[in-house]
Amino acid sequence: MKKIVLVMIIISLLITVSCSTRNSETDNTNKTPYPIIEKIGFSSDTEVKKGNYVAPGETFTIRALIVLKEKDGSISTVEDDDISIEIINSADYLSLKENIITVKEDVTSGVIISLKATYESHSETLSYFIKKNPDNHIDSDGIVTDYEQTDCLVNKERSLPQDYVPDDLVHIEVPSVLTNLEVNQLRKSASDALTDLFEEARTAGYTLKARSGYRSYSTQKSLFNNSVARNGLEHAKKYSAPPGHSEHQTGLAMDITSESVNNQLYDSFGATPEGIWVAENAHLFGFIIRYPEGKEDITGYEYEPWHLRYLGIELATDIYKTGLTMEEYFRENPSIQ
Ligand code: DAL
Ligand code: ZN
Repeated sequence: MKKIVLVMIIISLLITVSCSTRNSETDNTNKTPYPIIEKIGFSSDTEVKKGNYVAPGETFTIRALIVLKEKDGSISTVEDDDISIEIINSADYLSLKENIITVKEDVTSGVIISLKATYESHSETLSYFIKKNPDNHIDSDGIVTDYEQTDCLVNKERSLPQDYVPDDLVHIEVPSVLTNLEVNQLRKSASDALTDLFEEARTAGYTLKARSGYRSYSTQKSLFNNSVARNGLEHAKKYSAPPGHSEHQTGLAMDITSESVNNQLYDSFGATPEGIWVAENAHLFGFIIRYPEGKEDITGYEYEPWHLRYLGIELATDIYKTGLTMEEYFRENPSIQ
C-alpha cells in the first residue's frame, strides 16, 4: 500500500512538473523576443530626410537599414543586404544601381522622386524634391543652357540665346487686350495652364485679360529701346528687361490685367479683387508672381503684380509656400552636392 501511495505521489509530482514546464513555455512565447524591428530606415553619403532637395545629374549612395529596438528602449541599426530598395513612380527620372542613385540630367525642378525599402512586413518610403542648381546651367558668357526647361532661371545676370524661339508656341485661348499675334502666344503647357487659371477666376467672379506673352528677342529689343528713349535708361531698367534677358522670350511668361485697371499694366492691379485672387491662386495652376513687392533688390525689377511666370504646379506651389523669389529659392539649399 505504501508503495502504491509513493508511486501515486511520484506520478502526481511528474504531472505537476510537466504542467508547470508547459506553462512556462507558454509564457515564453508570449514574451516579445528583443530586439524587435522598429522600422526600416535609410542612410546615405548625403543627409537623408524626407523632402530633401536633390539636383538633376546628382549621384549619391543610399542604403536601407533595419532599425532595432532593445528591451530597454535603446535603438540600434543594422544594414542588411536582404532589404530591397525600389524606385516608385519616378523611374523616368533616376537610375538605381548597387545602391547608387543617379538623377537624370534633364529632370526639371518640382519633380518628386521616391524610393521604397521593404523588409519582411516592414516598408518605408523616402522622397526627394528635385531642385536644380542654376550655376550648373549657364555658360561662361552668362547664357543659360537649360532654356527649354520650365524651371529655367532668366534674369539680369542670365540671358537666353539670341536666336532662341520655343518650338511649341501656340495661340492663347483666353481673352486678350492686344491684337499683335506674336504676344498672344505662349508655350503649350503655359497656355493650357492660363486657360485653366482664367476659367477658375471666372468661376470665382473675376474676369482677367491677357496682354503680353511670348516676345522675340527683337520685339524685346524694340520695347527696351523705346522705354529708354521715353523714360531714360535708369527708369527703363527697372521695368523692362534688356533683349535676351526677358522671361517673355521663354514663352512661359504672361502679363495679365483686368478692366478695373483699364486693361493696363499698373501696379494698382495687385490691390484689385482680381489681382488679389491671382496672387493667392496662381500657383495652383503653375504660375508665380515673378516680381513681388518688396523684393525689387533681389529680382532687379519693380513690383509687377501682372507678370506671371509658368513653372508647373509642383514648383510654383513650392516657391509660393516659401514666399521666396526664384532667385532666392534656387540659391537657398540649392541641393546636396
Ligand atoms: N517687364 C519684365 C521685367 C520684362 O521686360 O521681361
Ligand atoms: Zn511681363
